[in-house]
Amino acid sequence: MHLLSTLFLVIQCLHALANVEKTIFTAPEHVPIPRDAAIDNLLLYSLNPARLKIRTYLNASFPSDDKPHGEESWALLEGLRPGQRYELRVCWLATQPTVFRLDTYTMAESFETSGLISSLSTYSYSRRDALAESEVNELVASKYVPSAGADNTSLLFLRIQAAADYFSLNKTLMEIVPPVHVDLILDPYLLNVFPRSLVPTAIYIAIIAFFSWFLADRSNGVERASARKKLL
Ligand SMILES: *[C@@H]1O[C@H](CO)[C@@H](O)[C@H](O)[C@H]1NC(C)=O
Ligand SMILES: *[C@@H]1O[C@H](CO)[C@@H](O)[C@H](O)[C@H]1NC(C)=O
Ligand SMILES: *[C@@H]1O[C@H](CO)[C@@H](O)[C@H](O)[C@H]1NC(C)=O
Repeated sequence: MHLLSTLFLVIQCLHALANVEKTIFTAPEHVPIPRDAAIDNLLLYSLNPARLKIRTYLNASFPSDDKPHGEESWALLEGLRPGQRYELRVCWLATQPTVFRLDTYTMAESFETSGLISSLSTYSYSRRDALAESEVNELVASKYVPSAGADNTSLLFLRIQAAADYFSLNKTLMEIVPPVHVDLILDPYLLNVFPRSLVPTAIYIAIIAFFSWFLADRSNGVERASARKKLL
C-alpha cells in the first residue's frame, strides 16, 4: 500500500513538472455516424487509436469579452471504445505561458448547441483559409479509418481554449500572441484506472522502490545481526 501511494505521488509530480492540462472522460455509446463528407470537411485533426499524438500549433489570445478563455480550436477524438476511460492531454513549453481549457462534446451536443456550432464552423473556416502544406499532410495522415465490418466505436469533439498568460514590455507580444506549439495526446486508461502511457514509468519506479525497500531491509538485518553478536 505504501509502495502504491509513493508511486502515485511520484507520477503526480512528473505531471506537475511539465506544462500539462488534461481532461478525463469516458467514451460515449456508439451512435451511427453519417460517414459522408460532412465531418471530413471540417478539416479537424483526428486523434484515434492509430494516431494517439499530434504535434501542432494552436492560436491563442488574451482573454476578451467575447472570448473569455481565449482562442478556440477543435479536434476529433475517434475510434473510441464505448465505456472506456481516456485522458486527453495538451503539453506545451514553459516559454509560452498559456492557460488551456479542454472540453469534450458528443456530435449531437456540438451540432445542436448554438455557441458550439458557431465556434466550430468559425474554426473550420479559418483553417480552410490558412492551412499550410505541412498541416494538410498531417491532416491526411491523422484521418481515422474505421476498421472494416461493424464499426462499434464512438466519437467526441474536443474544444481547446487557449488564453495567453503573460505580460511583456514588448508591445508586439502584447498585441499579437504567437501560436502555441503543443502536443495533443490521447491516452486510454489501462483497466480504466491508469493512463497507459505512464505504465513504463510506473514499472520503473516500482522496481526502484522495491530494490530500495529490499536493500533497506537487508541492512536492517545486518544491524540486527551485529547487535545480537554484541549481546552475546
Ligand atoms: C467491436 O466489434 C468487434 C468485431 O465485432 C469486436 O471484436 C470488438 O470487441 C467490439 N468492440 C467493442 C468495444 O464492443
Ligand atoms: C490563427 O491565427 C492566424 C493569424 O491571426 C490566422 O491567419 C489563422 O486563420 C488562425 N487560424 C485559425 C485556425 O483560427
Ligand atoms: C518583440 O517580440 C517580437 C516577437 O517575438 C520580436 O520579433 C521583436 O524583436 C521584439 N521586439 C523587441 C523590441 O524586443
